[in-house]
Amino acid sequence: MVFSTSLLFVALLAEAVSGTPISARVRSPYAVKDSHFVPRKWSRVGPAPADHTINLHIGLKQSQFDELERRLFEGIFHSSRRGRSPQVNELVKPTDNALGLVHDWLLDNGVEPSHLDHSPAKDWIKVSLLVNAVEVLLDTEYSIFKHEDGSHIVRTPSWPLPAHLHEHVDAIQPTNSFFRAEPRRTNWRPAGRPEHGMEWNYPPQVDVSNVTVAQVCNASAVTPLCLRTLYRTIGYTPQAAGTNRIGLTDYLGEANNKSDVQLFLSKFRPDAAGADFAVEVIDNGDNQQTPNTPAQLAAGKDLEGNLDAETVLAIDYPTPLVAYTTGGAPPFVPDAFTPTDTNEPYLAWVSYVLAQASVPQVISTSYGDDEQTVPAAYARRVCAEFAQLGARGVSLLFASGDSGVGRTGACLTNDGRNASTFLPSFPSTCPYVTSVGGTKAFAPEVVAYDARNGFAPGGGFSDYFAQPWWQARAVDAYVAGLAGRHDGLYNKAGRAYPDLAAQAQHFVTVWNGSEVLLDGTSASTPAAAAVIALVNDALLARGKPPLGFLNPWLYRRGFKGLNDIVSGSAIGCGGDGFPAEAGWDAVTGWGTPDFLKLKALAGAGGEVGRQWD
Ligand SMILES: *[C@@H]1O[C@H](CO)[C@@H](O)[C@H](O)[C@H]1NC(C)=O
Ligand SMILES: *[C@@H]1O[C@H](CO)[C@@H](O)[C@H](O)[C@H]1NC(C)=O
Ligand SMILES: *[C@@H]1O[C@H](CO)[C@@H](O)[C@H](O)[C@H]1NC(C)=O
Ligand SMILES: *[C@@H]1O[C@H](CO)[C@@H](O)[C@H](O)[C@H]1NC(C)=O
Ligand SMILES: *[C@@H]1O[C@H](CO)[C@@H](O)[C@H](O)[C@H]1NC(C)=O
Repeated sequence: MVFSTSLLFVALLAEAVSGTPISARVRSPYAVKDSHFVPRKWSRVGPAPADHTINLHIGLKQSQFDELERRLFEGIFHSSRRGRSPQVNELVKPTDNALGLVHDWLLDNGVEPSHLDHSPAKDWIKVSLLVNAVEVLLDTEYSIFKHEDGSHIVRTPSWPLPAHLHEHVDAIQPTNSFFRAEPRRTNWRPAGRPEHGMEWNYPPQVDVSNVTVAQVCNASAVTPLCLRTLYRTIGYTPQAAGTNRIGLTDYLGEANNKSDVQLFLSKFRPDAAGADFAVEVIDNGDNQQTPNTPAQLAAGKDLEGNLDAETVLAIDYPTPLVAYTTGGAPPFVPDAFTPTDTNEPYLAWVSYVLAQASVPQVISTSYGDDEQTVPAAYARRVCAEFAQLGARGVSLLFASGDSGVGRTGACLTNDGRNASTFLPSFPSTCPYVTSVGGTKAFAPEVVAYDARNGFAPGGGFSDYFAQPWWQARAVDAYVAGLAGRHDGLYNKAGRAYPDLAAQAQHFVTVWNGSEVLLDGTSASTPAAAAVIALVNDALLARGKPPLGFLNPWLYRRGFKGLNDIVSGSAIGCGGDGFPAEAGWDAVTGWGTPDFLKLKALAGAGGEVGRQWD
């Protein structure tokens, strides 16, 4: 009880402020609510600095999540029942009793109601406090932890909560989550040395109304013309641009440089030259007000942001693009004298987006991290937030990862046993999002792999989320086909990913004014999202609702509109990982998109052969 003195002090202060005798309120002793091993790669370096500010997010139990989930699935087959924001909020709001008890506890600790920020459904309470105040509130001690790569965060591996609140609070962060939203891109070119003046067959002398993959695709540099030809969006003219929108997310200081995007479009999608995109800044995200510093350029800042924006616009133009740039997770500098913020990736973004009346129908996110860096309870809660977007008709696509079944050398459990294991990637393991793996080559497409930088698309099985019903048949057949291979290294009963895939290697990207080539599911995710957005365009143009949460539809019907990938594997953890197979597999899902088939299967017309009915 290191903090008992200050706790008493703050409590007395609260009594003075509120005028209500504390003894009149329900009180109970603290008990540990959740703890999590400090993941390997992280080590404690010292106590948290007193002037450190924590943006505390308190997740209250959602009163009717089961009903929300039921409607999420119903929405797939009866899209007219898809919820609007007020209906979804009604299902996730906490009970009045829970909210009252949490408010009392905060007030007891000197946190006044006027300082609290509630989500529209009141299922999250946000409050900014100095670390000392949070330490009192949670009866714990925060420390600075350092990652092998040199970055720092302020966390506490375990957090207690008054016992009477345990049943009403799902999660409080930042506490014990060491999760970071890492960009899923791997540079093909040596860092800091973009390749200049690459020569490839572009713009080829072809008739774009009658173009073949062989004419326009070259594996040494993948261009929009190739992607549009390969995934058959090239002949399609969007008809619902404006009603239909697509979003992408930027984290960790990434932004989308408009001048680079213009250079890219004028060269690779000349008819889209001049196309602009909206930027919505959340929690002081980077919106490109000032040019990058030499240090930022050396670190490759905006490679990810530019890749995402350029890929989406070049495929979807003139569909409006919204870039959400979320701040609050800066590399924390432990010796800085100014107070710093510590945020959880995704929470700031998802709470912002859930509060909007209208959200793009497809959102692409090229970030993720090892599932075991997130405490299970917190991962489940973030995943439940994504379900709310699904229930509102939004398709969320996430990159499956760039290290196959796990980064070789890191494939050990984080539970104190150090047992060998594959390392699944979150949020891809969340069943309410659609996970995108990666391919390369064209005739045929095969699983991506680049020996030069070790890039292999992520795939595997969650250790936290159970297998959802909609993938049971496909995944069980795949696991049976493995015939015991990799047994003990993965959870057969877990949510398996990815769900689909797209090209992921040697994407031409304009950055810092010149062309670079990038690898990663960071590339395949915006490409796949852009194709799905065009299917929505065709649906909306016919007065039909968009696809919304994709997975149950993909596994039941949509898979027939994907090109099956049967060669290659999710190389990682010092081995070959999960192989691609006919049908669903744990490295490319059902395969890569065929826009014309998907559009027909979704009921948006076009090439409906009998076989697709
Ligand atoms: C960025 O572009 C400038 C101007 O062309 C160039 O001098 C600089 O070397 C580039 N930096 C990197 C990291 O590519
Ligand atoms: C693909 O690009 C490489 C490098 O630019 C070039 O050498 C090769 O000839 C191209 N292949 C085809 C089939 O165009
Ligand atoms: C399309 O191109 C092929 C050769 O690449 C040609 O044989 C065919 O006639 C063309 N079709 C149309 C409709 O122009
Ligand atoms: C965007 O990139 C260009 C280089 O292509 C650079 O000159 C410019 O300063 C960048 N803008 C910002 C705001 O970083
Ligand atoms: C697990 O590995 C860590 C180093 O990563 C080591 O400190 C610890 O003692 C190991 N635990 C066991 C049970 O082997």
